[in-house]
Formats: sequence, structure tokens, C-alpha cells
Amino acid sequence: MKFQISPRKQEDETLVLIPVFKTEDYATFLKNILEKYNFNIPNIENDFSADIKSISILYTPTHKIALLGLGKKYEENEIIRAFRFFFFKQKNTLQGKIGIDIEHIAENFLPEIVNGILLGGYDTQLYKTDKKQDKNWFLNNESNIVFYSNIPTKTAEKYIDKGQKIADSQMSVMDIVNAAPNFKTPKTISEWAIQSGKTNGFEVRILDKAQLEKEKLGCLLAVGNAGRVEPHLILMEYKPKNATKKVGLVGKGITFDNGGVSIKASTNMHFMKSDMGGAAAVLGTMEVVAKLQLDIHLVCAVPVAENLLGSQAYLPSDVLTSYSGKTIEVIDTDAEGRLIMADALTYLNRNYQPEILIDIATLTGSSVRTLGYMAGALLTNNEELAENLYKAGLKTGEKLWRLPLWDDYEDDISSDIADVRNYSGKDMAGCISAGKFLEVFTEKHQAYAHLDIPGTAFKLTEFASSHIGTAFGVRLFLDFLSRI
Ligand code: BES
Ligand code: ZN
Ligand code: ZN
Repeated sequence: MKFQISPRKQEDETLVLIPVFKTEDYATFLKNILEKYNFNIPNIENDFSADIKSISILYTPTHKIALLGLGKKYEENEIIRAFRFFFFKQKNTLQGKIGIDIEHIAENFLPEIVNGILLGGYDTQLYKTDKKQDKNWFLNNESNIVFYSNIPTKTAEKYIDKGQKIADSQMSVMDIVNAAPNFKTPKTISEWAIQSGKTNGFEVRILDKAQLEKEKLGCLLAVGNAGRVEPHLILMEYKPKNATKKVGLVGKGITFDNGGVSIKASTNMHFMKSDMGGAAAVLGTMEVVAKLQLDIHLVCAVPVAENLLGSQAYLPSDVLTSYSGKTIEVIDTDAEGRLIMADALTYLNRNYQPEILIDIATLTGSSVRTLGYMAGALLTNNEELAENLYKAGLKTGEKLWRLPLWDDYEDDISSDIADVRNYSGKDMAGCISAGKFLEVFTEKHQAYAHLDIPGTAFKLTEFASSHIGTAFGVRLFLDFLSRI
């Protein structure tokens, strides 16, 4: 896809798209702008509401014009949603070069506009042998876009490049989330990281089963023991010369979770291919940070494993020795995420000493019951971190809502026979006790936050008939990194 920037014109564009915010006087605005295209429809506001995702196509004697509603909120995520929706819906009818009139839109929204357009072309047909794509505008070499704007070309190019780089990485990790678990194994995710590191300039080290044994990551090994392939720990580091802060991210990478011996019910079990949404967020963030060459020293750990059932599977009541040395009584083998994350958190913390430590995981059904698809749960005792993550969520639309991480909940994870247990046995406060469990393995890190994201990482959207991956976390972390 080629993007250009030029003052308003219309030469060989087959369509002019005019995005419209629903301001008090959007009718006057519309009247004025349509005059610039020598067109006038009285009371157009009766036909076009400017609500988010509303679309009207107008045929003038000389132009084809599409109006796209952006709604009332001036938010990044709303811009992305509106553009993604338009291009998603229209991709089989669009042709040739398209003009987008953005003279009236703040220039700093350009990355989101580009991002939305590209995500509109995201294709979920990963394994179809007969792909319906003959009319797909995104797959046509001649498809390009000219933005009508007076932004200086250099500035515009920078914005466009940013929007494009983020979208490419988002779609790449969305592909992993949407992939079938026999195609995305701990091995193939490790290979993805190695390849991305080579292309984008960050270091990647994989601990395979033998190395996990040598380094005694007892929890990751136990969870992965009944897997069809062996577990790995993916370690990634991006260290630019002028790095300011050292930030550590850890992402849960269970490529399929059937619960193990504490087996899940079969209804919707297929959704558990998405139990690596946290890993996707971390892989995508690392890739974009390296591509954009941000001044952040970023260190990441992604434990990848299959949580399956077999004669080699770990058992409820087994006691595991974690990498930290602490022992864990397994009450439920379906609470596997916190086990692999425990090892990864301690490993990253001890070996890389990040100043800020954040984990992101599709960890509990409890978080989905609490917040639905609208927000991920945020648990931290560090006020500054809470504020920055919360604000980054509001800004990007990848929202977070805080739950307590008080010591009052400690009893939930205390065990009679081991240092801790992995489940309280009570169907209450599940998201919080999971957070308390993970906190133990950060070894009193003073700037630690836990994000629980199953409802936001993989969900029903207007872009597919069933749940799909969202790349939740990538734009959130990028915004967060600009705040510290
Ligand atoms: N992967 C699940 C969490 C999950 C639930 C993700 C729903 C997506 C949708 C996690 O490993 C799990 O099974 N958690 C259990 C924990 C319980 C056994 C303590 C849960 O939340 O039910
Ligand atoms: Zn589970
Ligand atoms: Zn899980």
C-alpha cells in the first residue's frame, strides 16, 4: 500500500473519503466542505448522522464521495475503529486510488488513520484453500491513498510510517493469536521471535527444555510436561545507545489450555487457542519498539507451553519448586498461567533487573466476568505505574481498570504444606488472588504491575463472525513507554 500527501485536488482518485466528527455544527461543516467539491445537498444531516462508523455514499456529477462518521469522542481508538470499519466493509468495492480529505483533522491523528485503514484489510482466512480475494482492494497492486492535507511532507511521512509499522506488527501478532494451536506451537513462536529479532534488530535467546532443566524453571517444565511439543522460555532484549529506562515485560504464552488434569468443559474450549494473548502483546511491543528505535531499554520474557492432559501431566496436589526456589502446591492444573508466569517473572527480574516490571496474561475467567470485553484488569501497589498505565489505556482505547492487590488477600494463596498454593479453592476474587500469587515471584519489586486481559485480547468484534485476536496491549504499552 502506498500513501501520499498532497493539497486537496481530485485527479485520478476514484473516491474521496471525508471523515466527519459529530460536532454541534457538523451540518455547517459538511455544507462548506461539500461546496469545495461543487456539491450541495440541503439538510444532509437528515441522512448522515456523523455517529461513529456511519457511512453515506454520495454521487455528485463529477465525484464519488463517501462520508464517514467519527462520532463525538476525539479518541485515538475511535478513529482507528471508524477507519478500520470503513475499509473492512468497503474493501471489495473499492478501486484504484482513493483520496481522503483530512485538512480539518488534527495531524497527530494521522498514525491512527493509517493504522485503521491497514487493519481494515486484516484477513482472517489463515487456512482457507480457496480465498475469496479477487476483488479485495488491499491485494491490488494499484491500491493507494492520497491524503489531502497541508501537513509538511516530512512530518506526514513520519506519522504514516509510524501508523504502518504498528499496524504491521499488530496484524502479525493477531495472526499468531488466531492461528490454530497445531500451527502455533512453542517452537513456532520461538522461531517468530528469532526472525523478528533478526529483521528488526533485537537480541533473542531461547531456553529449550534442556536449558530450562539446567536453570531449574520447575513450574514452566511441569506445565509443559504433557505438551505435544516441549516448552520454551523466549528472552528478548532491545538496548539502544541512548536508552533511558530499563523496562521488563512478561507475557503468558499458553498455545492451548485444556486445563490439564483439572480439565475444562468442552463448550468454548476451542477459544483456549488464544491463551497466548499476553505473549502476543509482548512480542508485538518488542517488535514495534525496535522498529521505531525508541530510547527504551526493553527486556522481555515469554514462557511458551501447551497445557494438556496426558500420563506425563502434572497433578493437582503435586508440589513444584519454582525458579525462585519457592515451593508451590498445585490445587488446580487449570491455574497454569500463573505457574509459568511465576518462573518467567523471577527469571527476568533476577537476570535482567528491569526498573519497571509488567506482566500481561490471559489469566482468569474472573477478570472477564468482572470487566467483560471492555477493559483489562490492572493490579499494582505502585501509584505512579497505576496512573501511567491507566492513562495510556484511556488514550489508546486499550483500557485498564484497577483492582486491589492488598495483602488482605494473602490467605487465598497460603498453603499448609508448601510456600504458596496456586488456587484458593473458592470461586471469589479469582483475578485478585492470581495477582497476589504472581506478586510473590517478583521478589518485592517496587514497580510491578500485573495486567489480566482475556476479555480484551480475543473477543467478538464487528470484523469477524466469531472471536478474533485484537493485539490488545501493543498500543497500550507504546503509549505507556512514552510516559515514563
Ligand atoms: N486461560 C485461563 C483463563 C481464561 C478464562 C482465559 C477464560 C480466557 C477465557 C486460565 O488458565 C484458567 O483456566 N484460569 C482459571 C483459574 C482457576 C482454575 C483458578 C479460571 O479463571 O477459571
Ligand atoms: Zn487454565
Ligand atoms: Zn490459561
